[in-house]
Amino acid sequence: MVETKARQAVVVGVDGSEPALHATRWAAREAVRRHVPLHLFNACVLPALGPHVAGSAEAGILEALIEQGHRWLRQARAEAWEADGGVELQTELRVGPAAGELIDESAHALMVVLGSRGLGGFRGMLVGSVSSAVAAHGHSPVVVVRGRMPADPPPESGPVVVGVDGSEVSEAAVAFAFEEAALRAVPLVAVHTWVDVSVAETWSALPFDVDWEAVEQDERRLLAERMAGWREKYPDVEVRQEVVRDRPVRGLLARAEGAQLIVVGSRGRHVLSGMGLGSTSQALLHHSECPVAVVRPS
Ligand SMILES: Nc1ncnc2c1ncn2[C@@H]1O[C@H](COP(=O)(O)OP(=O)(O)O)[C@@H](O)[C@H]1O
Ligand SMILES: [Mg+2]
Repeated sequence: MVETKARQAVVVGVDGSEPALHATRWAAREAVRRHVPLHLFNACVLPALGPHVAGSAEAGILEALIEQGHRWLRQARAEAWEADGGVELQTELRVGPAAGELIDESAHALMVVLGSRGLGGFRGMLVGSVSSAVAAHGHSPVVVVRGRMPADPPPESGPVVVGVDGSEVSEAAVAFAFEEAALRAVPLVAVHTWVDVSVAETWSALPFDVDWEAVEQDERRLLAERMAGWREKYPDVEVRQEVVRDRPVRGLLARAEGAQLIVVGSRGRHVLSGMGLGSTSQALLHHSECPVAVVRPS
């Protein structure tokens, strides 16, 4: 591989929290697998100080915050090294709002990796504000690292699961999922859920019969067609195709039990284009028990 300076890095958001350290270790191994540098990134945020802090104190506070940011980055460096001694590290601290800086950073990143929670927020919150904003508006794939509970370490074994709905966005998710399964040498489970229970109920109230068996056959064929080209491109990846008659979130969560990564498109077929994240992706960020990769077409 040609090593140039413009080589895209895996970027990880570092904020001094334990979930960010889980994300750092995950990202270090990912960077090594992909033969790219790991870019440790801290956005140093100066809080609104209000009228009771003298203007002259502001510089001192910012200086202390920057010092703290550098400490967090040094700590993350050590964790990354420990996760994989072969990792090539870069660090960067920038002064500015975290979500905005990370979204900017994502424009030239291979992917952005974040903890599901950070230092702020409140106990019991399932996903932090920075993570959900970057997952919704980032330019690159965004991986939110989590385990059984949001702040738990992520699982390290199991298949990669991808949600396929047939849209252009899910096509990008399928591409990313095949890469991940191939890099990790684990099976890929492609899940296509095909009915909203509410739709089925509405239909059954109408005066005509639906041959659900035939519909299911069609959905199976559709999924097989979607996957055919990819299976050819990645002959070494073992693929399991699952057609599930269930709501997307429930169907995906059930199939993702024991998985090490779940990959979804940022939006589905039914979402207004102005919205950042589709409802399925959003729900998975809250309820998945493994890291979630949110992918959008480049
Ligand atoms: N200032 C920051 N600089 C870099 N990354 C950050 C920063 N704040 C948060 N992150 C990243 O986002 C993840 C989630 O944090 P966040 O969304 O802020 O949760 P919370 O609301 O619990 O603080 C963190 O684990 C970290 O990866
Ligand atoms: Mg925070």
